[in-house]
Amino acid sequence: MLYLIGLGLSEKDLSLKAFELLSKINNIFVDTYTNYFDFDLLWLEKELNKKVIQLSREDIEKRPIFLDIAIDQDVAILVSGDPLVATTHTDILLRAKKKGIKTKIFHASSIYSAIAETGLHIYRFGKTASIPFPEENFFPKSFYDVILENKGRNLHTMLLLDVKKEKNLFMNPKDAMEILRSIDKDCNIQDIIIISRISHDSQRIIYGDIEELLKFNAEFYGLPPHTLVVPATLHFAEEEYLISLAEIYKNTKN
Ligand SMILES: C[S@@+](CC[C@H](N)C(=O)[O-])C[C@H]1O[C@@H](n2cnc3c(N)ncnc32)[C@H](O)[C@@H]1O
Repeated sequence: MLYLIGLGLSEKDLSLKAFELLSKINNIFVDTYTNYFDFDLLWLEKELNKKVIQLSREDIEKRPIFLDIAIDQDVAILVSGDPLVATTHTDILLRAKKKGIKTKIFHASSIYSAIAETGLHIYRFGKTASIPFPEENFFPKSFYDVILENKGRNLHTMLLLDVKKEKNLFMNPKDAMEILRSIDKDCNIQDIIIISRISHDSQRIIYGDIEELLKFNAEFYGLPPHTLVVPATLHFAEEEYLISLAEIYKNTKN
């Protein structure tokens, strides 16, 4: 059996059900490449008295040894957040099924629900988009179309920021806003909400005018992971909640 287990958004968000299962399994792996991963899993290794083996992108995509083991043994793969949210793990499930391996998912807290900590109503989010690192001959702008489409329907847009684990690159909100600014020639985007390290002690929610927020350097925004939201027109209840908890950097000229 292959178990895909969500770790949740920080290192002790793992469910009790998952913890109990892990205490019975000997083959435990962790995917550290689909998100910025700084969870200290030593506590888990100590509690279980077992080693948790890190999987690289190569291990998952090209050398999936865990699938061979799962043919006749129980295998668990730990994933940050929820294992089926914004990741490629359905591919692992399909590959397992093709080998006749049974699979089971253990869900966990995810950026997709934690985003509601901003006070924005979850049902008012439109399509999510990701902002990729621009490359020499590759500068995709589809996330901008998603923002405009959502704005047109008065819906919020959640923007996930690129992770290039193999190059140790994790997009900072400042890079993301510079990319947005360079595309948004007509200034359709003004307000931005930045959600950083949700569920960690260092969690932050920042709300402001993009021009104001661009005045800060990348260090100001701290360690990843970060998510941006381009809000639609805020409902008064959303605005009241957001203003009551966010760090606010608002252009007073407006
Ligand atoms: C590929 S997605 C993985 C999502 C994860 N499986 C989940 O369910 O939350 C990675 C992106 O989610 C966002 N993200 C993940 N954890 C976050 C957190 N704790 N705080 C803010 N954003 C987060 C960041 O934009 C990050 O680049």
